[in-house]
Amino acid sequence: MAEVARKKVAVLISGRGSNLQALIDAAASPTYPAEIALVLSNIAEAGGLDIARGAGIATLTVSHKGKAREAFDAEIDAALRDRGIDLICLAGFMRLLTPGFVTAWTDRILNVHPSLLPAFKGLRVHERVIADGVRFTGCTVHVVRPEMDAGPIVAQAAVPVLDDDTPETLAARVLAAEHRVYPLALALTASGRAQVVGDRVVVEGAVAAQGMLVNPAG
Ligand code: GRF
Repeated sequence: MAEVARKKVAVLISGRGSNLQALIDAAASPTYPAEIALVLSNIAEAGGLDIARGAGIATLTVSHKGKAREAFDAEIDAALRDRGIDLICLAGFMRLLTPGFVTAWTDRILNVHPSLLPAFKGLRVHERVIADGVRFTGCTVHVVRPEMDAGPIVAQAAVPVLDDDTPETLAARVLAAEHRVYPLALALTASGRAQVVGDRVVVEGAVAAQGMLVNPAG
């Protein structure tokens, strides 16, 4: 089989890194169109850094403490360019990126959010989902725009909200869906099958997998 040209991906984290793990697992396949070339954290103790080290992936910590947002983002930008990074995946990265950074990487940053965007942006999502009594929630991988938790949607998965759900039980089921959707969304983006057209992502030859809703092509 012809070797695929793999896009170089940096995963930005602040914590445990379970989505990072899902991306690393997916990228272990030789046919996956992306390689995880760098894991960057703003927190030196982030568990995800150990996951990366265990997988033999380069890591970097850039602390945000005592820095203006622009200075922090400029440091990250330089590190990513130094390493020839093509795409950025935010995976539990708890810093808002400046509009300047996002614009410099337009259509090359993905984020995973634990709700069916545009519903339930921001933090404490599962508590609010339960309080509002919605019957379905889920997760979204989207292309990052300067506004928080906004941007063209690459892929989503729906997760039912059960009567006896707590924020913790719901978070666990949504997280399992994130682990399926993020590798799919990165593969679609890295292979060029997902393209931003206006405010939407159009996916070429999309096949809706079970329990997973992907924007159909055309
Ligand atoms: C995930 O729920 C993600 O949607 C949110 O932060 C959490 C990160 O979890 N943005 P992990 O570090 O990937 O385990």
